[in-house]
Amino acid sequence: MATVHPISRFPTAHASAAPAAGAESPMPRTAIAVHKLELAFGERKVIDGVSLDIPEGQFLSIVGPSGCGKTTLLNLLAGLIDAPYLGTLRLGGAAPRLGDERIAYMLARDSLLPWRSALENASYGMQIRGVPPQAREARARDLLKRVGLAGFENTYPKHLSHGMRQRCALARTFALDAPFLLMDEPFGALDAQTKLQLEELLVELWQQERRTVVFITHDLAEAIAISDRVVVMGARPGRIVADLPIDLPRPRSVRELQKEPHFHELYAKIWQTLEQGWRHSDDE
Ligand SMILES: Nc1ncnc2c1ncn2[C@@H]1O[C@H](COP(=O)(O)OP(=O)(O)OP(=O)(O)O)[C@@H](O)[C@H]1O
Ligand SMILES: [Mg+2]
Repeated sequence: MATVHPISRFPTAHASAAPAAGAESPMPRTAIAVHKLELAFGERKVIDGVSLDIPEGQFLSIVGPSGCGKTTLLNLLAGLIDAPYLGTLRLGGAAPRLGDERIAYMLARDSLLPWRSALENASYGMQIRGVPPQAREARARDLLKRVGLAGFENTYPKHLSHGMRQRCALARTFALDAPFLLMDEPFGALDAQTKLQLEELLVELWQQERRTVVFITHDLAEAIAISDRVVVMGARPGRIVADLPIDLPRPRSVRELQKEPHFHELYAKIWQTLEQGWRHSDDE
């Protein structure tokens, strides 16, 4: 039986599964669990019966037509939606919570602070979380170097290109050392070439520092190239219409993958399910 959870409070019905705050316990095999999720905004049902188990360290992408509830799902996981939902949501065994330090969230538009340099931006999240100055500076410098921004540490966002700002945002996101990475079309506003570079960087960083990732995109080629698994959502109301493993070898290079015949086979197969999703939402 599904339960209604006001998001602002921890539900008690399943709380026994959650480790006590600060307790040392191994991460469960399933890092993110979504079970029979339903959500309505007023009269409109936006998410209908979504279930998803995401193992620890998996890179999962979600694709689907505009308005099918991708951002809503991500926001629910981040504890950003203050509306009651049906079903269960768990991250590392605990219900979503606003300000959860285990979550790093990255958006399409970089949210760099204009009055802070690249280095100060990259270390901002760590500062909020109380990481000592020396440690956060070292970590931020290392990540800026790894995203190709060595030499730009003292540059302010207005003097960085959009691609460079997203590199900086990527550094800041990884600097948080959060086990759950929620990414909502982080490269959606970039030109094709810059996007490819950023995808390559993300894959590289993730291969070095594993996180459980939920990545939303409209770009199916991007989803296949970077993910272990692609989930296709259909619209009105949002539901899962396909859930496919991406059996391409790792470590991968996004650029090289474009030449692989299997990459194109996967593309054609998933494209078909996307088209079916669109057709069904058009029918309604
Ligand atoms: N706060 C809100 N109040 C009411 N309706 C909302 C709210 N947020 C989203 N919606 C509605 O929920 C549906 C899903 O929106 P959502 O932003 O999750 O879609 P999406 O799949 O992320 O779309 P896109 O690909 O365009 O970003 C839409 O119909 C939208 O109008
Ligand atoms: Mg969205």
